[in-house]
Amino acid sequence: MTEQLSVDPEWYRKAVFYEVMVRSFRDTNGDGYGDLKGMIEKLDYLKWLGVDAIWLPPFFASPLRDGGYDIADYTAINPLYGSMDDFDAFLAGAHERGMRVVIDFVINHTSDQHRWFQESRSNPTGPYGDFYVWSDTDEKFENVRIIFTDTETSNWAWDEVRQQYYWHRFFSHQPDLNFENPAVHEAVFDIARFWLNKGVDGFRLDAIPYLYVSEGNTGESEPPTHTFIQSLRAMMDREFPGRMLVAEANQLPREVTDYFGSEETPECNMAFNFPVMPYIFYSLKSGDATGLTGVLADLPDVPKGAAWGVFLRNHDELTLEMVNDEERQKMYEWYAPEPRMKVNVGIRRRLAPLLDGRRDKLDLANAILLSLPGSPFLYYGDEIGMGDNIWLDDRDASRTPMQWVETPDAGFSDGDPESFYLPVVASDEYGPHAVNVAAQESDPDSVLWWTKNTLEMRKSLPALGTGSTRLLSTGSPAVLAFVREPEGPGVPVVCVFNFSESDVSATLSSVAPTGSAVVDVRTGETVCEVDDSEELRLDLPAMSWHWLTVS
Ligand code: GLC
Ligand code: CA
Repeated sequence: MTEQLSVDPEWYRKAVFYEVMVRSFRDTNGDGYGDLKGMIEKLDYLKWLGVDAIWLPPFFASPLRDGGYDIADYTAINPLYGSMDDFDAFLAGAHERGMRVVIDFVINHTSDQHRWFQESRSNPTGPYGDFYVWSDTDEKFENVRIIFTDTETSNWAWDEVRQQYYWHRFFSHQPDLNFENPAVHEAVFDIARFWLNKGVDGFRLDAIPYLYVSEGNTGESEPPTHTFIQSLRAMMDREFPGRMLVAEANQLPREVTDYFGSEETPECNMAFNFPVMPYIFYSLKSGDATGLTGVLADLPDVPKGAAWGVFLRNHDELTLEMVNDEERQKMYEWYAPEPRMKVNVGIRRRLAPLLDGRRDKLDLANAILLSLPGSPFLYYGDEIGMGDNIWLDDRDASRTPMQWVETPDAGFSDGDPESFYLPVVASDEYGPHAVNVAAQESDPDSVLWWTKNTLEMRKSLPALGTGSTRLLSTGSPAVLAFVREPEGPGVPVVCVFNFSESDVSATLSSVAPTGSAVVDVRTGETVCEVDDSEELRLDLPAMSWHWLTVS
């Protein structure tokens, strides 16, 4: 049953990605932490669902003060998750099933427990003395904003050992590496080669805008940061063709697009679409698609061979940095009525509870995710509409154990629930008795089957993977519509979404020539014909979505 990985070097443009933290999926030795053996156990589930690539957040040696994004050793597996042999077996198991594996590459900072930092602080003139950004004063780079506004008051922290300040963009236990130092580049390239030699298919470039900081500037997307990414990409294309980079750059449309680089000097193959994401949630609550349509219209084209990574939720807060103040205020009122639901500049809740557990909204949101230009990134548990636990700290609210079966331990682990890295969600609405994989597997109307079926349908329509996107006027602010035209063989797909709580009539213009038959992909039925004025009139039920082919 060994499947071949496709040889297509642009595989990521057609892939469905699935983000899952090792510790959250399945614990096989009963210690309360999900592990790599558990990941292996669940590969068939992911394959069944329709996943093409798995994104693993950091699983390396770490004090786990930032979910593992505080790395103490880049080439050692955290013993809680298993061994290097386990990782190799996981990677081979994924590849055998035709799935790829993308891992997090966290190079902006390390944990303060990393050997480099320990040596840097104790031996300023030694080989690691300049690995971090040290200063006698904390009054440099004052234009640079603070990211973790809830916990940090400065980007500088005092080190008792070295008697100097060090620079950090995230938690103070995460000192930033000094990219002015060429030895840091070498060290980072070594780590990249280590994992690429093992066979990983790509890296998510964590916190990538922040590599360089200079006086008077913002410390975000500074030119040498781009130059560094170009050199990393060039190395990968030369030594490891077919592997990819996806940028985590929470920036405005123009600035995110810069992370793709140009055809001559490519940077990342993909970038997460941070500008579009919050406007999906804005439309879902306001019933008005104007903002979403606007941001889609403003999105610059991506270079040839590149693709957006589209997402609704991930392991972080739903960030509201890309909407304006007024929109942010409304979104806090709508989506974070309890103060505990907020964190930093965002909201720490999962998809289903954000959408009030409403199935119509969940389907609409997921349908947009699968229709927008680029490749979708699903977040583990959202395929069954899992809930969150806002009583947990920080972003742990939406990082609880995966719910496989209805028992209180959710089938996550055979160990003592007291020992779990985080408790299983226990609410009436979202506990494992109400939300679990096993029950949904035997219910054809479940969110799980919806996800599986819709992913399959999407795969049969190549236009939805790599096609171009043209926005259509709809005559109604509640309705978003665009047509995806295939790059190669395939049919154009008209994607239509009604965000209103009421039925709406829409008139789409310039879709296809008069007389063309319009077929609803989901039902196979002819909906109507394009009329004499080349317009398409549609009656759309409240909160509905449609994939239409025109022939
Ligand atoms: C990224 C990660 C986030 C982490 C931060 C610092 O934004 O997604 O989880 O806390 O980087 O590493
Ligand atoms: Ca375990």
